[in-house]
Amino acid sequence: MVEDDVELSKVIAGEKACELLTSISELKVIGIGTGSTVKKFIETCLHFLKKHKAVASSPDTVIFAKEHGIHVLDPLTVDELDAYVDGADEVSSKLDMVKGRGGALLREKTLAYMSRNRIYIVDYTKYTGKEYLYAKPIPVEIAPMTLNYVLRAIERIGLFEPIIRTGGGKDGPVITDNGNYIIDLKPLKPLLNPREVHYELKSLHGVIETGLFPSEELVDTVIVGYPGKATIFHRK
Ligand code: 5RP
Repeated sequence: MVEDDVELSKVIAGEKACELLTSISELKVIGIGTGSTVKKFIETCLHFLKKHKAVASSPDTVIFAKEHGIHVLDPLTVDELDAYVDGADEVSSKLDMVKGRGGALLREKTLAYMSRNRIYIVDYTKYTGKEYLYAKPIPVEIAPMTLNYVLRAIERIGLFEPIIRTGGGKDGPVITDNGNYIIDLKPLKPLLNPREVHYELKSLHGVIETGLFPSEELVDTVIVGYPGKATIFHRK
C-alpha cells in the first residue's frame, strides 16, 4: 500500500540520519525539528539521542522527546548546535526547500541557523527532482495586526495566491507557537530563485519569517527515504 511505503520511507530516512549523526565528531547538543518524519527519527534513534542533549523546534517535539526520555534543553541556554535534524515539505534538485506545514518554521529556521550540520529527512514524495519549488504552498508567519497590509502587499507582488491558515481546535486563523498568524502562499508559477523570493517577502512590513529554506544558507544534507533504500544528497 502506498501509505505504508511512505511511512516505511520515513523510518528509513530517520535510520540513515541516525547513522550520519554517529559520524559527527564532538556531538553534544542536537537540534530536533518537528513533524511525523522527525517523530520516526526520534523513535529509531532513541538509544543514541538519550546519550546526548537536545533542543526542539516546537512544544510538540519537546513533549514527544520528553515522553521518550530525551534530555531537552531550553534553546535560550544554548549558543550553538552540533547538528540539526528536521523534515521538509518539498525539496528541489538544488536542495532548496519549503518547510512549515506544521507551523514551526520560525523556530525551525532559528535552530537551522544555529547548527553546524543541517540534516533533513524526507520520504520520496517530498523530493521533486525539479530545479524549482512549486509543489507546496509557502508558509509565511506574520504579526497578527499586519494581516490586511501583508495580504495586499503579497497580491501586489503577483507571484502567489495568499490563503490565511485556519484549522483545528479554534475558529479563525491558526495561532503559532510564537503568537502569530500564518498565511500560505500558493505559487502561481515555479520559483526559480527561492532565495530572492524569500528576501523579497521578508522585506515586507509585518512578515516575521518565511518557510523558504534556501539551500546555500540552511541546508547541508538531505536524506530521501524510499521503501528499500535511502539516497543522500550533500550540498555542493
Ligand atoms: C513543520 C515542518 C515539518 O518538518 C514538515 O512539515 C514535514 O513534516 P512531516 O514529516 O510530518 O511531513 O516544517 O513546521
